[in-house]
Amino acid sequence: MRLSVIGCGYLGAVHAAAMTSLGHDVVGIDVDPAKIASLTAAEPHFYEPGLGPLLAESVATGRLRFSTDIADAAGARVHFLAVGTPQRKDSTAADLTHVDAAFDGLLPHLAAGDLVVGKSTVPVGTAAGLAARLEASGTGAELAWNPEFLREGYAVRDTVEPDRLVYGVTSDRARELLDEVYAHALSLAIPRIVTDFATAELVKVSANAFLATKISFINAMAEIAEATGADVGELADALGHDARIGRRFLNAGVGFGGGCLPKDIRAFAARAEELGRGESLAFLKEVDAINLRRRDRVVTIAQEALGGHVHERRIAVLGLSFKPHSDDVRDSPALDIAVRLKGLGADVRATDPQGIANARLRHPQLTYVEDTRAALQDADLVVLVTEWPEYAGLDPVETGALVAGRQVIDGRGALTSAAWREAGWTYHGM
Ligand code: UGA
Repeated sequence: MRLSVIGCGYLGAVHAAAMTSLGHDVVGIDVDPAKIASLTAAEPHFYEPGLGPLLAESVATGRLRFSTDIADAAGARVHFLAVGTPQRKDSTAADLTHVDAAFDGLLPHLAAGDLVVGKSTVPVGTAAGLAARLEASGTGAELAWNPEFLREGYAVRDTVEPDRLVYGVTSDRARELLDEVYAHALSLAIPRIVTDFATAELVKVSANAFLATKISFINAMAEIAEATGADVGELADALGHDARIGRRFLNAGVGFGGGCLPKDIRAFAARAEELGRGESLAFLKEVDAINLRRRDRVVTIAQEALGGHVHERRIAVLGLSFKPHSDDVRDSPALDIAVRLKGLGADVRATDPQGIANARLRHPQLTYVEDTRAALQDADLVVLVTEWPEYAGLDPVETGALVAGRQVIDGRGALTSAAWREAGWTYHGM
């Protein structure tokens, strides 16, 4: 089937390449010529494992091309809206400028029978508004809402074989077109939920709200554990054996970040207030507050570890991206902590396997070091804030020979505390 994907960021670029690999004929559209140039050259403009080879294969088939001209979407049967919905500058609500611009740009190029499919994360009610505008346009095109649940770092797999498919549709025809698009996933018996627009929109934001709540729950338990001498890691393991709770997303540490969870819970709470149901989601403000307190806590532990202040002390910060296997530093706890320590006068040496370039764009004042050993050299304190396998696998004896002071803050519960203590380190867990 001929498809267009409007917006070629983390979501759209992966979606375009994955849909091509499943046999579709795809045009990816983005307003940014630099992104289009790099995708056309099969060189992703961000780090995502497996995407480079998938793009190369897909572009080589001749069935995937990229363009800055939205008119090139004409002729596709299904058009995916995959543009970003960042947090507004003046409030915590979602900024729908890109969704509106993509939709308005697409309208003149739609033909009767086309299906416009929203994938962006939007405030509940957005789809109904767009559907009304589509109806009024007289194009004869229809709208569906089909949220995306991919995780950065696993985006290719999550797109080709998602946990579930959610269709917000108002006609059998829309469902049938989506079934044709997702024939591969359906052949694997992946669950498909066919519902209305509002439910489809809500599945997405409530899933992220639940995940964020789960993380903040265990981080709240970490605060109590710290006050009582309990071990939050063992607590999480014990809780996780209850299948109703589950062990995943119960890792305490510096908390969640990235381009989705933080802004999605804020936008969701803001939307609830607009709906006159602010109190229903008031707890999400607490989830956010618990999460942000974890960053303060690392800074406090660092100050205490260095005798009260970090001024002019050398600190190796291991990790900048918001999680491993990603170069994304949007709302990254790791980068935030590095910047705060630097702001307190510490001589911060920050490193990350993939995140340095993006971090440097946002915070050029930090000292970035490509090589982990160089970052560790002569450090008075080591702060592990993103659990890349190369940091989790550091040898405490070898690392101990590089540093000036054997003190480590394990912000992700990634190290084996006993081994580090045995090698003479003061281990600060969270
Ligand atoms: C998240 C959701 O997991 C995806 O399902 C969703 O599609 C996506 O947002 C989105 O809305 O686009 P992602 O932001 O890629 O995906 O990252 P996650 O794997 O969810 O991690 C989010 C943050 O939580 C990271 O900073 C991670 O380090 C942190 N985290 C995760 C914890 O602090 N503890 C945990 O136990 C798990």
